[in-house]
Amino acid sequence: MKKTWFKELSVYQIWPRSFCDGNGDGIGDLKGVLGKLDYIKSLGVDAIWFSPLYVSPQKDYGYDIADYRNINPEYGTMDDFKAVLDGAHERGMKVIMDLVVNHTSDQHEWFKKSAAKDPKYKDYYIWRPGRGKDGKKFPNNWMSTFPGNAWEWNEERGEYYLHLFAVEQPDLNHDNPAVREEVKSVMRFWLDMGVDGFREDVITYISKREGLPDGFPLPIMRGMEHYSPGPNIHKYLLEYRQVVKDYDAFQLGEAPMMTPKNALKYIREGKDQQLDMMFQFQHMEADCFMTSYLRTKFNLRKLKKVYRNWQHKMYGVAWNTNYLENHDQPRVISRYGSEKYRTESGKALATLYTFMSGTHFVYQGQEIGMLDYPFKDWSDFVDVATFCAKGIMEKTHLFSKKKIFENCAYAARDNARTCMQWSAEANGGFTTGTPWFHVNPNYKDINVAAEESDPGSLLNYYRKVIALRKEYKDAAIYGRYVEKMASSKKIFAYDKIAEDGGVLTVVINMTDREVPAARAAKCVPEGAEHILGNYGGSMAAVLKPYEAHVYYKAPAK
Ligand code: GLC
Ligand code: CA
Repeated sequence: MKKTWFKELSVYQIWPRSFCDGNGDGIGDLKGVLGKLDYIKSLGVDAIWFSPLYVSPQKDYGYDIADYRNINPEYGTMDDFKAVLDGAHERGMKVIMDLVVNHTSDQHEWFKKSAAKDPKYKDYYIWRPGRGKDGKKFPNNWMSTFPGNAWEWNEERGEYYLHLFAVEQPDLNHDNPAVREEVKSVMRFWLDMGVDGFREDVITYISKREGLPDGFPLPIMRGMEHYSPGPNIHKYLLEYRQVVKDYDAFQLGEAPMMTPKNALKYIREGKDQQLDMMFQFQHMEADCFMTSYLRTKFNLRKLKKVYRNWQHKMYGVAWNTNYLENHDQPRVISRYGSEKYRTESGKALATLYTFMSGTHFVYQGQEIGMLDYPFKDWSDFVDVATFCAKGIMEKTHLFSKKKIFENCAYAARDNARTCMQWSAEANGGFTTGTPWFHVNPNYKDINVAAEESDPGSLLNYYRKVIALRKEYKDAAIYGRYVEKMASSKKIFAYDKIAEDGGVLTVVINMTDREVPAARAAKCVPEGAEHILGNYGGSMAAVLKPYEAHVYYKAPAK
């Protein structure tokens, strides 16, 4: 496997609005981030990925961009950003920006001019007349991800525009070469400033099939076969790739509904490679059916199968990412672990994924084991996606009101967006003002300050796994994945085998019960050294709830 700096990164994701408020207005900002750079560095991570910091009406919390070249005033100024960028670089950390170009905000100048049929901008978006006698029928039957139909009428223009996300997020027309030039120019703008890469939002959606034909009559995501992916996706991505080639930067594409086979069409190393890695979602479906709104019991074998598949298919030919949380996912302890065994299961999950191959990501608050929010009422939610899911579930008449609320509370992206819990002080130390969103009431117990002072905390365990991933990188980062006890519903066990023959072995009890250790113990090679455990010592006769171990056996001389 070719070794490259970006493959070895552990990346800390910041969702700026809820990270740290530096000026007391209740909204996280860059001044807040600046004050936490030492903390971030102390985790041992090598990079920060910022969810969108740009000017935005915040209809989708920054993923609706009104100006790609300026910072949202709520978050600070361009000088504040440069200070953070320099501060990160001085500490040896890279900075990755979110690049959201499938769509803009409807408040972007381009969209306003396009609606006004300004000749330069008129084809920047995907406009169509209505169908039917009265011209009011939608141009096709596509649905948006935030459900509803994918078309919105624009009075000024007298046409519909396509939006695969919220109404306020019109899709850009990448078939227009002028739009592609704009995208490249935005990329260069940030690369020239010194950023080290992009996380490219729903990038696999940017090409739409010519003629925009009707989609299969699915109840959700109708039309997706015409844009996920579309016919020109690889061509457009290769163009964007050219920009990045002039810099020492990397590209990470978000790719909903991606399989390993299709992923290789984007990330296989070689001359046609378009992206360095992807965010796929299959491993986030071990407790649900298709969408996190349709919850099922956590299924360890389903999870293992996904890891097995991706680890094998990427090995030696492509690179991928490795994450368990982000701003779109509920907290992983609440999903795959146990709130009762918060620290133990948090450590088990940290162990489970950190030693897989892939660039490693940690989402703000994951490192201290933040949990889902105890939502009580619909007024507790703010995310457009939550309300869309509610609407679609109501329409099916399949769920009781109570069930709809439960499904939303469980799956809501709002869970990931509560304020970061820094201390036991008011508002969890997130702000001295009134926080823009909830602080989980558990902040008095679960916070950075408390975990800093406890050597056995999850926070300190994250520091350990991040350091070990690097120390044993030939096995952990670049090694070959060999699963053990594949059929077990309780134990997750695997080897990572380095080219030199060194073997890193991971063994985890992924249940909240005690499990006899005899079979698991056989996974550990004779003479291997115990390098990490979440209950103190090495494996005994019984594995306690969520007990996890890592061993290393050096190659024979
Ligand atoms: C991506 C983002 C998500 C956003 C959507 C539309 O999935 O991660 O937060 O709502 O794209 O931009
Ligand atoms: Ca602020």
